[in-house]
Amino acid sequence: MKKELVIVIDFGGQYNQLVARRVRECNVYCEIYSYKVSIEKIKAMNPKGIILTGGPNSCYDEKAPTYSKELFELGIPVLGLCYGAQLMMHVLGGKVETALVGEYGKTDLIIDKTDSAIYAGVSDNLVCWMSHFDYISKVAPGFEIVSHTDNCPVAAAQNVEANLYAIQYHPEVLHTQSGTKMLSNFVIQVCGCSGDWRMDSFVEESIQAIKEKVGDGKVLCGLSGGVDSSVAAVLLSRAIGNQLTCVFVDHGLLRKDEGDEVEAIFGPGGQYDLNFIRVNVQERYYEKLKGVSDPETKRKIIGEEFIRVFEEEAQKIGKVDYLVQGTIYPDVVESGVGGESAMIKSHHNVGGLPDCVDFKEIIEPLRDLFKDEVRKAGLELGIPEYLVFRQPFPGPGLGIRIIGEVTEEKVKMVQDADFIYRDEIDKAGIASSIGQYFAALTNMRSVGVMGDERTYDFAVALRAVNTVDFMTAEAAEIPYEVLNKVMSRIINEVRGVNRVMYDLTSKPPGTIEFE
Ligand code: XMP
Repeated sequence: MKKELVIVIDFGGQYNQLVARRVRECNVYCEIYSYKVSIEKIKAMNPKGIILTGGPNSCYDEKAPTYSKELFELGIPVLGLCYGAQLMMHVLGGKVETALVGEYGKTDLIIDKTDSAIYAGVSDNLVCWMSHFDYISKVAPGFEIVSHTDNCPVAAAQNVEANLYAIQYHPEVLHTQSGTKMLSNFVIQVCGCSGDWRMDSFVEESIQAIKEKVGDGKVLCGLSGGVDSSVAAVLLSRAIGNQLTCVFVDHGLLRKDEGDEVEAIFGPGGQYDLNFIRVNVQERYYEKLKGVSDPETKRKIIGEEFIRVFEEEAQKIGKVDYLVQGTIYPDVVESGVGGESAMIKSHHNVGGLPDCVDFKEIIEPLRDLFKDEVRKAGLELGIPEYLVFRQPFPGPGLGIRIIGEVTEEKVKMVQDADFIYRDEIDKAGIASSIGQYFAALTNMRSVGVMGDERTYDFAVALRAVNTVDFMTAEAAEIPYEVLNKVMSRIINEVRGVNRVMYDLTSKPPGTIEFE
């Protein structure tokens, strides 16, 4: 079982995932919960520590997210960050006010109590990252101020006896020097975690937990050949052997030749001993998507059809008790079902099932992991590197890389253009330096001239981004010669395309995919 859990309570701030990430970097397991999580559930989880995140509200507003005083009286160490720090003071009898001038960005930190556990082993001359308008004007009874800045009288405060710590700045942001060390001081020194959580313990513990949960039940896994579902499938296969059946739905929205490649790896004669079923439902998908151009409607159709295909396969197999999905942590947050962040896109592979489905439950073994952690788990499971380091491909596939209506002809165009793009990137030897890259088919048609003929064809957009966690991204700087070569090959080799563009937009404000 998971021991030494630290929980992060999410109040909707922009750095919430980073908090979890930094804690994990200290080799301490942690999970994120919405501030709506009940005190009973927290008690039942019995965490070694609790971290309250930042958030966009003012804690004294009536409608602002809050938590009852009981949270601070459980005897479990609590660290409040930014809004979390203000909330802690507000709830415990301190004072939070709106400043005349906010404090944003890099700020010199003046440490008043260098012997505070939070500051153990850090220099007393540091820069911290501030982002707040409200500030703590008076600490709650029992607290002492341990650091301040020129504009902020309480940059950090502590009540050592009660194991309560409040930090106004953001130690989770790398701009705060020694920020990770401060978080490590909290989870290791204050909470007493041993810091021995590793990916191999994740794999072992997950296998054990899956065995216990599934018993002798039957499990169906959606395998797309992408990193996440491949890792989920191999993990499940390790845990329950041939009680697992993997279904690979070829919805006709995959990259060129991908269906055959996935079958070659996971199917009979491949490198795994899996019950593998490939379902070819391309026509069925094109039919369902006919005339549909709204991105969210397309996602829903693709997702629902996915479940229907599963149901049908499950019925053929007999009774199926569980369904496995390769959902990972960023999917959970961006779909608005994890913490408090706003919903951006309804990634179809997250969340509950339609009412009429016959499965008992969904198993999402990678739900708490970041992409790089999934990759580590994959390596731990012995999955070959070329699979583990594949770039991500979205569940709805080319369906969301074709702006507007999806047709078989458009799928072919984007497949061919994308194939050329990937081929040239490979040849240029720059593949491993780019986070994600693909071609998309814009819905724009424009006039061109080819061989003395007027054309009125589609424009292809090339996308390539550098990203650490896929939550933010910047356009990659692909050498001009490579882009030029790709452009010329696409125009010459892909019928129906007469224009190629390179997308420079970062995320935010753009997203990585086009829909
Ligand atoms: P966005 O476009 O939201 O993408 O910046 C972030 C990452 O998520 C992938 N993505 C999806 N993955 N189902 C998925 O499984 C989806 O509906 C979906 N939409 C985006 C995207 O490829 C990128 O890696």
